[in-house]
Amino acid sequence: MSPTKRVPAPRLPRRSTLLLKDNWYVGAWSAELEPGATLARRICDQALVLFRTETGAVAALEDRCIHRGMPLSQGGECEGEIIRCPYHGLEFNAQGMCTKIPGQAQIPAAARVISFPVIERDAMIWVWVGAADRADPERVPSYPYHRDPAWVWTYDTLEVKAGWLLLTDNLLDLSHLQYVHRRTIGGDPLEDGRAQLSATRDGDRVFVARWLLDMAAPPFHKQMCGFAGNIDRWQEIEFRTGLIQFYSGATDANSGARQGRRDGGMHLRHLHCITPETETRTRYLFSVARNFRVDDAALTRRLQQLALATFREDQALLEVQQRRLAEDPNRALLDTCNDIGTVHARRIVAERVTEQGRRIEQTR
Ligand code: FES
Ligand SMILES: [Fe+2]
Repeated sequence: MSPTKRVPAPRLPRRSTLLLKDNWYVGAWSAELEPGATLARRICDQALVLFRTETGAVAALEDRCIHRGMPLSQGGECEGEIIRCPYHGLEFNAQGMCTKIPGQAQIPAAARVISFPVIERDAMIWVWVGAADRADPERVPSYPYHRDPAWVWTYDTLEVKAGWLLLTDNLLDLSHLQYVHRRTIGGDPLEDGRAQLSATRDGDRVFVARWLLDMAAPPFHKQMCGFAGNIDRWQEIEFRTGLIQFYSGATDANSGARQGRRDGGMHLRHLHCITPETETRTRYLFSVARNFRVDDAALTRRLQQLALATFREDQALLEVQQRRLAEDPNRALLDTCNDIGTVHARRIVAERVTEQGRRIEQTR
């Protein structure tokens, strides 16, 4: 692009299908990848094979052999420090370098599969499929609730046939709880109507806070922590592209939670990893962590099942919504007062995608 060419200002995207490659995404849970295991993944339309070598290193390579284009994930074996193509046996190390061509002594220096930056942190495998020189490891967030022994956590994954921004919208607008999750986590429409909502943007992050003060404890809260009287509840959401951290909790009413005194009570940390596979498919990895009744394995199972049942309700809805939106993807939609976080988030995505477009133009 010439320096004088005008660059349009970021517009708020209505389409649910914008792919942002210059971003860290969670490709898999660490537990999914034992030494010697391989996984097929797709992130932002990039086919990948993930594998873990004998020494524990995790690699993310393009899932396409340089010889005849065979997907390495389709029967490829990881042995020692290499992955072997299932077709004619070419071998590649974790950096993508070809280390063996059966029957051929010389290996050309250019014989390599594209490798992608990968970081394993807090029980998650993060992959970057954008410009490699932009992959700043510092931007992979720390998530202490997956490693702090004061917390216990459980996790699961859903493959959602809907665009990643639809899932982002869903998680940032909690006014859907009382309608979509009536049979699971629900919410009292009258109480929810009293929620005090605020949203602020800080750089590439958005913070949404929702407070319900001095309200009767719902059955779930009573069962979890035995609240006897009214409670103050909060739902705090931190958005960054591809990731939403959700902190919900409650303490006895008027005990100062909103002013920062949150000792005791109930604390749940939900992590939502939103990984775009294609424009219309999303890998949704979520975890639930708690710091109460941490030795109660039955409760861990129950929370895992509850989270799965709840997010399947979202999945069913998002897939129908995706199909309807696809019929006319550029048509305007109406934002409501509950979308204050969503609007900030969509603006950030628009800016990041525009920046990515400029970067691609400049490298042409
Ligand atoms: S296609 Fe991979 S070795 Fe031939
Ligand atoms: Fe939901």
